[in-house]
Amino acid sequence: MSGEWVIGIIGGSGLYQMDSIEDRQWIEVGSPWGKVSDEILCGRIGNVKVRFLPRHGRGHRIAPGEVDARANIDALKRAGCTDILAVSAVGSLNEELPPGRAVMVEQFIDHTKGRPASFFGSGLVAHVSMADPTCARLSQWCADAVEMAGSDVSVGATYIAIEGPQFSTRAESRLYRQWGADVIGMTAMPEARLAREAELPYALMTLVTDFDGWREDEEPVSVDQVVEQLQKNSDMARKTIEQFVRTLPEHRTPSPIDFALDDAVITAPDKHDKAL
Ligand code: ADE
Repeated sequence: MSGEWVIGIIGGSGLYQMDSIEDRQWIEVGSPWGKVSDEILCGRIGNVKVRFLPRHGRGHRIAPGEVDARANIDALKRAGCTDILAVSAVGSLNEELPPGRAVMVEQFIDHTKGRPASFFGSGLVAHVSMADPTCARLSQWCADAVEMAGSDVSVGATYIAIEGPQFSTRAESRLYRQWGADVIGMTAMPEARLAREAELPYALMTLVTDFDGWREDEEPVSVDQVVEQLQKNSDMARKTIEQFVRTLPEHRTPSPIDFALDDAVITAPDKHDKAL
């Protein structure tokens, strides 16, 4: 069985528009889960349908802890997405990942606090696997696209999600390095969990803007530094996304993630209707 791709792109800080999308229209997609960050820019790149959602809204109005990831993922699903490529600015906890580097994430440590992180509960209980939280094939194709777009990419990184909106203390930054995290951000969790519950394969391309606070001999991260580097990174992100979409295989073959809920729901079937 094979089908068509509908690629959801979640734009992070610095990525609020995608000029390469043709036949474009911003469309309001509502969600019963809450407030979607913005309208969704619907169109195509080449023959592939794309749906672009700026995570913080156009004009960067929504703080990390205010992003309603349930509404966003639900809206992308309702907009017909089959797969998601998310983009995020991050700090680096690893000296081999300097500012300007594209880094594909493979694993997460979720250190956020109190964000709604599941579509389940209230009578319908499910436990999806998060052992391998990102989609290997999308991640590989995206890494290839970074190189084709002329930039360096690192793969296999671990991302720690913090609550923010403040940056970390130097002690926290050092601790996260000891935990094995390579990059740090405020937004990709619980987004990645919710994509899995929505049976949407999810890849995360991060773009390093700073070295956070763990380097004692350097000034800690500041907004000025992040914004300056974001401006340099966003052009590369746009080129990469276009390249990624244009080089997807013509037909989409199913991913195991399309069936993530098949063996995840634990509530007895006769109780489902009441829960829904
Ligand atoms: N986003 C960009 N840089 C960051 C940092 N150092 N910490 C958390 N989120 C970030």
